Amino acid sequence: MIVVTGATGGLGGATVEHLLKRVPADRIGVSVRDAAKARHLADRGVRVRQGSYEDPAALRDSFAGADQVFLVSGNDPAADMVGLHRNAVEAAVAAGARRILYTSQQGAVPDNPYRPSDIHIATEAILSDSGADWTALRNGAYGPLDQVLGPWQRTGVIAQPQDGPVPYTDRAEVAEATAAILAGDRTFDGPTALTAPTAVTFGDLAEIASELTDRTVKRVVLDDEEWVADQITTGVPEQTARLMLTWYQAARTGYFAETGPLLAELLGREPRTAADRLAAGIAA
Ligand SMILES: NC(=O)c1ccc[n+]([C@@H]2O[C@H](COP(=O)([O-])OP(=O)(O)OC[C@H]3O[C@@H](n4cnc5c(N)ncnc54)[C@H](OP(=O)(O)O)[C@@H]3O)[C@@H](O)[C@H]2O)c1
Repeated sequence: MIVVTGATGGLGGATVEHLLKRVPADRIGVSVRDAAKARHLADRGVRVRQGSYEDPAALRDSFAGADQVFLVSGNDPAADMVGLHRNAVEAAVAAGARRILYTSQQGAVPDNPYRPSDIHIATEAILSDSGADWTALRNGAYGPLDQVLGPWQRTGVIAQPQDGPVPYTDRAEVAEATAAILAGDRTFDGPTALTAPTAVTFGDLAEIASELTDRTVKRVVLDDEEWVADQITTGVPEQTARLMLTWYQAARTGYFAETGPLLAELLGREPRTAADRLAAGIAA
C-alpha cells in the first residue's frame, strides 16, 4: 500500500489522481486532516484515514500497512514544522513503512537564505537517521506564474526584487512524476531533483511575454525595502513579506539555478517550459 499525506492539498491531491491511473485503488491510502474533504477519494475505493502531523497516534493508524509513505511538507510558518515532520517520519517507521518520500525543495542546502530551506534540510536529516529508505524530492519552484510575476498582464511590467535563474516547474507535472516514482520500479535514494529543464530569469520572462503578447513587457527591478513596503501596503504581514524576500535573495545568489533531466525521464516527454505556461495563461 502507498499512503499519501496532504491529499486534500494541491500536490498530494494531484499525486493521488495520477496514482489511481497506475495502481488499483485498494493499494492507495490517504492520511488527511479532514476526512470529509477526501470523500471523493473514498468513493473511488481509496482508504481514507484521519491524520495530522500534530497527532502521532492518528498518524500511525493512517499509515498502517503502508509499504511507502509520501510525506507532503506542511506550510504553516507559525508551527514547528521540523517537529511535525519528525512526528510523521517516526509514525511511518513505527507503522513499518519501507520507504518514505518527502517533498523537499530545490536548493535545500546550508546557507540558502530562503528560510523554508532550513526545514527541508532538518527533515532530510531526520529521514537519514530514521532507518527507513528515503527519497527527498527536491522540487523546483512550482507556484503559479502569475503569482510569481505579479499583475504584468494588466501593467505591462514585471516589477519585483532582483531575481536569478529558476526552473519554474509545473506542479501538475511534479505530481505526475511523483506518482511514477511511487508506482514504478526505479529506486531513488536521498535527494532527488525534479525540475523543469531550463532556468529563466524575470528578464527572460519579460522578453518571452513581449513576444507572446506583441507588446513591450518591461522588467523593473525593485529595491528590496521598497518591495517589502509595497507588500505591506497591499495587506501582506511584514513577517510574511520578509520571508518571501528571502526567496528572491536565494534566487539571485544562484541557489535555484540548477536543472535536472529526471522530470522529463519520468514523464516520458519534455516538461512544460515557462514559455508554454505563460502562453497558456495568456490564452486563458
Ligand atoms: N516547491 C515549491 O515551489 C513549493 C511551493 C509551495 C509550497 N511548497 C511546499 O510543498 C507543500 C505541498 O505544496 P502544495 O502546493 O500541495 O500545498 P497545499 O495545497 O497548501 O497542500 C499542503 C497540504 O499539507 C497538508 N498539511 C499542512 N499542515 C499539515 C499538518 N500539520 N498535518 C497534516 N497535513 C498538513 C494540508 O492539509 P489540508 O488539506 O488539511 O490543509 C494540505 O493538504 C507545501 O505544504 C509546502 O511545504 C513547495
